[in-house]
Amino acid sequence: MMLRSLVAAALVAGTGCVTWQTTHTAGRAFDLDVSRIDAAGVHGTARHVWTVPAGKLNLDYLNDTTDSPEQIAANLGWPADHADDGKPISVDRATIEYVRERRVSGGRTVLAVVGGLALAALVGIVIVGVAVASVSCGRPLRVRGRRCITPAISGTDWTEPVELAAVPADALPVLIEVWTEEARAEHAAIAAFSKLSLELLALGAPPQLVSRANQAALQEIEHARMCFALASAYSGHPIGPAALPQALEGDTADLIRLGRESVLDGCIREGVAAVIARLGAEGARDPAIARVLRIQANEETQHADLGWAIVDWCLERGGEPMRGELISAIAEAQMPRCDDLPAHGRVGRAAVRPYFDELCARARERLSRVVLAAAA
Ligand SMILES: [Fe+2]
Ligand SMILES: [Fe+2]
Repeated sequence: MMLRSLVAAALVAGTGCVTWQTTHTAGRAFDLDVSRIDAAGVHGTARHVWTVPAGKLNLDYLNDTTDSPEQIAANLGWPADHADDGKPISVDRATIEYVRERRVSGGRTVLAVVGGLALAALVGIVIVGVAVASVSCGRPLRVRGRRCITPAISGTDWTEPVELAAVPADALPVLIEVWTEEARAEHAAIAAFSKLSLELLALGAPPQLVSRANQAALQEIEHARMCFALASAYSGHPIGPAALPQALEGDTADLIRLGRESVLDGCIREGVAAVIARLGAEGARDPAIARVLRIQANEETQHADLGWAIVDWCLERGGEPMRGELISAIAEAQMPRCDDLPAHGRVGRAAVRPYFDELCARARERLSRVVLAAAA
């Protein structure tokens, strides 16, 4: 049992794609009200507790779901364990690898963490928090359809000193988590655009598209650095990305997949990322936060435009069958995670939803119009 846990720990430490769900040992899941995060770890009260049987953990599902903790537990077959309901829980920081989601409601902070699952299994603890919408902004790195993202670790390479205005103590854990997640997503986007440039070459795309994909990758490097700097400044400790070995894993060049990913990840996801950044910049009180968000808003808009340029090229190559693929792909678009902290530059789901719906509607309309015009 111990050996299997250690094997799983090594896999988790080195990868963001999860291939280890069949090797982890049994643990426990907590829906946790967080009262404090400090150098020792995460402290709070367990709202619900579940037993996580071996093989009943699927991080792909956890990454993508908007289910409630109760639904997650039910869907994954986790039996409830009421022994620690309402009791204080502390989790060693060293066992926490992945902070995932949180929600602010009525002044109460609920931190959703997937923490050091395999390591935690050694002490019998797994934490899973509230899932609202866990898909961060930014173009995801996809390998064989699965989103890959690397854990955040302690490290100075991707950060630099930045002066931030003081924030209330109860907002601090949330802001650390928000900017760490944003930084991880921006980091994955570097690999996504680098992969995109190679795939465009493989499919014979014109130089303008290849050049713009490479330019976007460079911009995502700066986005990641800025976001890791903000996360580090809020936390008081340097935060950076772990290695991302999936950056070298790839798919066979595929025009239809390229088109679908360009619609979902470029036109819609980066389009809504630009909106979130723009709205966030308008509300952010801290000039340093507003500056980062304005850069993101401007450059994510460029990335969405690149998505449309690639879609147009895919339509030229793929014709009517491509049009059908792309319109059907829009139904798979997901709202990104939203954080309702307008004074801190984050906007809530209710504010973003109309823009997301409009982006999807306009994408449908544009795709229909392009093909109709070509057929006339
Ligand atoms: Fe970005
Ligand atoms: Fe982007």
